Amino acid sequence: MKKYFSRRIINKVIPLCFVALLPFNKIAAQTKTEDTKMNAFVNGLMSKMTIDEKIGQLNLVTIGAATTGSVVNKGVEDKIKKGAIGGVFGIWGADHVKEVQDLAVKSTRLHIPLIFGLDVIHGHRTIFPIPLGLSASWDMGLIRRSAQIAAKEATAEGLNWVYSPMVDIARDARWGRISEGSGEDPWYGGQVARAMIEGYQGSSMKNADAVMACVKHFALYGGAEAGREYNTVDMSRIKMYQDYLPPYKAAVDAGAGSFMSSFNTIDGVPATGNQWLLTDVLRKQWGFKGFVVSDYTAVNEMEAHGLGDLQTVSALALKAGLDMDMVGEGFLTTLKKSLAEGKVTKQEIDQACRRVLEAKYKLGLFANPYKSIDATRESKDVLTPENRSEARNISKHSFVLLKNSAQTLPLKKTGSIALVGPLANNQRDMLGTWVVAGEWEKSISVMQGIKNVAGSGVTINYAKGANITEDSSFINRLNFFGQQMVTVDPKPADELLKEAVDAAKKSDVIVAVVGESQSMSGESSSRSDIDIPESQKNMLKELAKLGKPLVIVLFNGRPLTLTWEDEHANAILDVWAPGTEAGNAIADVLFGDYNPAGKITATFPRSVGQIPIYYNHKNTGRPYDGKGPSKFKSNYLDISNDPLYPFGYGLSYTTFSYSDVKLNKTKLKGNETLTATVTVSNTGKYAGEEVVQLYISDPVASISRSVKELKSFKKISLQPGEQKEVSFNITPDQLKFYNSQLKYDWEPGKFIIQIGTNSNDTHSASVEWGK
Ligand code: NOJ
Repeated sequence: MKKYFSRRIINKVIPLCFVALLPFNKIAAQTKTEDTKMNAFVNGLMSKMTIDEKIGQLNLVTIGAATTGSVVNKGVEDKIKKGAIGGVFGIWGADHVKEVQDLAVKSTRLHIPLIFGLDVIHGHRTIFPIPLGLSASWDMGLIRRSAQIAAKEATAEGLNWVYSPMVDIARDARWGRISEGSGEDPWYGGQVARAMIEGYQGSSMKNADAVMACVKHFALYGGAEAGREYNTVDMSRIKMYQDYLPPYKAAVDAGAGSFMSSFNTIDGVPATGNQWLLTDVLRKQWGFKGFVVSDYTAVNEMEAHGLGDLQTVSALALKAGLDMDMVGEGFLTTLKKSLAEGKVTKQEIDQACRRVLEAKYKLGLFANPYKSIDATRESKDVLTPENRSEARNISKHSFVLLKNSAQTLPLKKTGSIALVGPLANNQRDMLGTWVVAGEWEKSISVMQGIKNVAGSGVTINYAKGANITEDSSFINRLNFFGQQMVTVDPKPADELLKEAVDAAKKSDVIVAVVGESQSMSGESSSRSDIDIPESQKNMLKELAKLGKPLVIVLFNGRPLTLTWEDEHANAILDVWAPGTEAGNAIADVLFGDYNPAGKITATFPRSVGQIPIYYNHKNTGRPYDGKGPSKFKSNYLDISNDPLYPFGYGLSYTTFSYSDVKLNKTKLKGNETLTATVTVSNTGKYAGEEVVQLYISDPVASISRSVKELKSFKKISLQPGEQKEVSFNITPDQLKFYNSQLKYDWEPGKFIIQIGTNSNDTHSASVEWGK
C-alpha cells in the first residue's frame, strides 16, 4: 500500500499558459510519454489482478439513500474490502470519503483506490442556476467559472468525479430534464459542453481542485417520445448526426474523461448495450479514450427492454463497450460465469478494467488516493463569501426578460410592493433540480433579497396568495420518497387569494413570484400541461383585474406556456431556479442594479400542442408564412405556427438596433473566409449587454436543410447612445452538414447570412459560394 503514497506525482502539472506556448509536436511528445508511463503502470497492476478483482473495478455502487432509482447497494463495506467495488457515489465530506477510501487502500490486496462520484450538476455546495438557466447567459466564461467553483468545492469534500455536463438536446418542454441541459441547439450545446468540461477538469485532472467530468446521457436521451421520462427514442441517422450528437462529440473533443450511457433505446437497442453507439461512434469515429459508465441500473433495465436475463444483458453491455456498471451489479454477479461459458472474453473484461484504472491514474489517485481530501480546504473552500458572490453574479446573467411593457422594470427603490406568490418567501425552491449536497436553508429568498437590495425605502406587503398547487395527487408525486418538497398552506384557497389582493390594493406595484417548484422539473418530472399551475394562475388573474403594474418573477425548469401571462402581465422576468443567491440576484435585476441580458436557449411554445417546436426546423414542401390563405399549408387550424418566444429571445432594459448586414464579398470560392458585419447601437437609456447571433441558411442542397442554423454569437456591452461594429468570420467549415450518406461536408451554392437579436429577428444578406 505504501507505494501509492510515497510515489512522487508522476506527471507534474503544466500550467495552461505554458501548454499554450509549447509547440504542437512538444505537446504530442509529452502526451505520448505520459501515455507510456500510464500504460506501464496499468499493465504492471493488471498483471497482478485476479479476474474477480478486475470485475470488481467495473462495479460502481451508491452508499446512502437511493437518489434516482429504487435500488440501493448492500454490503458495501465487505465488498470494498474484497476488491469487488471500483467506485462509490452518494457520499461527500473529507472525513466520510477518507473513511471509505481507507477501506479500499488499506484493506484490499492490491490497495487500488476508489473513485468517488456525485451528481454535482450546477454547483456542489454553492448552487448556481439550473443548466438551462446557465445556458441562457450565453457567457462561456461564467459557465466555465461555475464548473470550476463546483470542482473546487467538490474536491474539498473528497470527490473526484462529477456526473455533468448533461448535453442532451431537448426540443420537448414536457420532458422534465430539459432543465438540466443547454436547450435545443446542437452547436451551442457543444460550446457549453466544452466550457463545463474545461471548468471541471482544469489544466490537469491531477490537480487537487479538478474533477473528471462525466458527459451524459449518451445518447439522444432528450428525444424521448412524448416528452415522457425514460421513454423510447427513435430517429433517423441524419437527425442524430445533425441535431442530437454534436454536443457529445464536442465533449469528446474537449477531452472529457468519462461518459454515461443513457436509459433509452436507439434503433431498438438500449444505449447501454449498443455497440454501434458505444464503440463504433464514440470510440472509432470520435476517438474517445476514457471510460463509459452506465446510468443507474441501466444494465438491469435492459431486461425490461426485453433483451434477456441479467447475465445476457450484462454480457451484451460489456461487449458493446460499457466499462462500469452503476448500482445494478449485473457485471459483478454474472461476468465471471459468462467468461467461463465463453459468452464474454478475458480481453473484453481486461479492456473495461484498463479504462477504469486509467481514469484513476489520470486523476492522480494512484499517486495519492487522498489527493483532494483535506479538512482544512473543506472549511475554507466551500460556500465561501467569494463563491456566493460569484454565484450571485452568474445567476443574474442567466435571467431572461421576457416582457417589459412601458418600462415597468426596473423598479424604484421607494414606494410599496405587493410581494405575493408561493415562491416569494421561500428558500426551498431557490436551488433547482440537482442539489444533492446543496442546502436550501442557506439560500436567499426573494423577500430577503429585496430587503437586502432595496433597503428601507421600499415597503413590502407580503402574502403567499396561493399554494404551488391544490392538486393533492400532484403534490404526492412532487413529495417523492416521502420528502416534504412542497408544503401546503392549509388555509382555503379563497382566503390565501384575498390576502394577496388586499396586499396588492395597498401597494404601488405587484411582484408575483410564481411558477414551478423544485421537484416540478428534473429527472422523472415530465408534465403534459406546462402552464403555471391553476392555483397560481387564478391568483394572477385576480391580481391583473386590479389594473396595477403586475410583474411576474417566473421560476421554471422548462419553457412554460405563458400566452395568458404575456397578454396580461406588464413584465415577466424568467429566473429559472437561480441557486443559493437567488433572492439577491433577482433583486439586483428587479431594481436595475444589473440590466438583464439572458436569451432563451429553448423555444417557448404557445401551447403544448405545438411541441416539438424548435427554431431549426425544416421548411416542408408546403411552408406557411403566416400570411394569406392557409389551407393546404403546413399549419394548424386553431393556433399559429409561431412560438410565443423564439430561440435566442430576451429583452433588456435598454433597446438595441441593428444595421443591415455588410459582407466583404458576395462571391466566394473554396476555403476563402467571408466577413459579415453589423453595427449594433444602444438606442435606450441604460447601459446593457446584447448577444449578437449569427445564423446561416442553406436554401438549396442535396437534402432538405433546417431553415437556419446558429453558427456563432458575440456578447457585447454598450453604453446608452454607443454603437459597435460586430463582425463574424465565416469559413466553409460552418457550412458543413451530414448528407444522406452521413458524409459531413458542404455543398456549393447560395447561403443566406443572418445576424440579429434572436432566431426570429435578423437582418440578412446572401452569398454565392463555389467549391
Ligand atoms: C440517474 C440519472 O439519469 C443520472 O443523470 C444520474 O447521474 C444518476 N442517476 C446518478 O444519480
